[in-house]
Amino acid sequence: PVLVVDLGAQYAQLIARRVREARVFSEVVPHTWSVERMLEKKPAAIILSGGPSSVYEEGAPSVDPAIFDAGIPVLGICYGFQAMAQALGGTVARTGTREYGGTDVAIDRTGTLLAGSPPTQTTWMSHGDAVHAAPAGFEVLATSPGSPVAAFEDRNRALFGVQWHPEVKHSPLGQKALENFLYEGVGLAGDWTPGSVIADQVAAIRAQVGDARVICALSGGVDSAVAAALVQRAVGDQLTCVHVDHGLMRAGEVEQIERDFVDSTGVRLIVRDEKERFLTALAGVTDPETKRKIIGREFIRVFEDAARQVVEEAGESGTEVKFLVQGTLYPDVVESGGGEGAANIKSHHNVGGLPEDLQFELVEPLRDLFKDEVRAVGRELGVPEEIVARQPFPGPGLGIRIVGEVTAERLDLLRAADAIARAELTAAGLDGEIWQCPVVLLADVRSVGVQGDGRTYGHPIVLRPVSSEDAMTADWSRVPYEVLAKISTRITNEVPEVNRVVLDVTSKPPGTIEWE
Ligand code: XMP
Repeated sequence: PVLVVDLGAQYAQLIARRVREARVFSEVVPHTWSVERMLEKKPAAIILSGGPSSVYEEGAPSVDPAIFDAGIPVLGICYGFQAMAQALGGTVARTGTREYGGTDVAIDRTGTLLAGSPPTQTTWMSHGDAVHAAPAGFEVLATSPGSPVAAFEDRNRALFGVQWHPEVKHSPLGQKALENFLYEGVGLAGDWTPGSVIADQVAAIRAQVGDARVICALSGGVDSAVAAALVQRAVGDQLTCVHVDHGLMRAGEVEQIERDFVDSTGVRLIVRDEKERFLTALAGVTDPETKRKIIGREFIRVFEDAARQVVEEAGESGTEVKFLVQGTLYPDVVESGGGEGAANIKSHHNVGGLPEDLQFELVEPLRDLFKDEVRAVGRELGVPEEIVARQPFPGPGLGIRIVGEVTAERLDLLRAADAIARAELTAAGLDGEIWQCPVVLLADVRSVGVQGDGRTYGHPIVLRPVSSEDAMTADWSRVPYEVLAKISTRITNEVPEVNRVVLDVTSKPPGTIEWE
């Protein structure tokens, strides 16, 4: 892989995404890793990310100079560029001119890194320090008012650096610079494609499971469907899918799984009706993390049960199903604190919420992928478009979209409101634009209303339509007022107990997409 060393950047994930867009596999690792540990991953190249510190500050994330002697090409970005300059004997200092936002950079020579660049290009910068002198052996490629050295390279040692952020869209030629680095500077082919991911994963799954039986948690969403299709491609009939109807699904979902997925793949499916079990386990619980942990725990217990059912039905009593497939994605891993150094924002139930005494070994073929990459893999595998294009829906389902205790009545109410919002957004042709639209019931909030000449005292429903590239960051969608009006009118008319519809206009960060 190409390792992106996270030096405290806002944009480390984004750098990895851009590298992947160049069809090169890339992973983010924390700067606290030793150089030896990084080298164990056999990186083709290393990218040092930006970061908020000054290289000369006490406690600033440092870069071990050994990284530059390992014979591996390195690209430093922003802080990573300055850290590289300093480590190799250049000078970094405060200039007094902070460059923030769109900045014109003069390109003195294009070298390898900036090949194809016009004499000036607009870049996106965010820095107070600057490189004043490049280390010996480096050619200065570019300068800007606040950056005496804005880009440099040492072709012989394959070391490159830019002061600006090539990974953000506001640097229009940024992707070109990244590709110059990867293709010309490193010599990579750009052959990481959905087809190569499938081939690699099929081989890895076969190696992991051998001829053992495997079960897969099929939620009906994109991730679990694609994970199941991959495992089916790898081990065929050794796979049985289990759909747990936990009662926290939206309207019509179980039927959809049977219609869209099972019919097209012929996969074996067991549906377990566990509504009562989940309602009982969630009774009286209002804390979001506790809900998530409970749902995760009950899920696994049901799977253990389903696994026994699978061996019995196969006439193999006495044996055990050892493997459980989950559609865990890269952002789930990172956001559950799985990426070292990352804070635990939420326990995604397929990662952080697993019980300690898990009976299964996990098969997680999508663990390295972002959502759009999963969709591409799914299409390549022939998973129907109705599933591949579906908007994300969280594993804990409506359980984390009721703020307050989860009860059967509240679930019915939320299901009705959600079905209306989904139908109207689809009718307005907005599905492609909207990443997902959680519909949230504020069950512990009541407000006064008036309906049919009478006073009401009901609950608000929150609409949370967002646009996003990978759910790591998001913005609220500018849904046309007429569409919002229609949804609001229909929900307040058709769903008893709801007398108010509100719109969430918060980006992520600071808000997360889901409310819990
Ligand atoms: P947040 O709310 O953290 O959500 O901004 C990011 C994305 O992840 C989905 N999500 C989950 N998916 N299990 C899942 O499979 C979970 O526990 C979970 N929690 C959030 C959320 O819908 C959004 O797409």
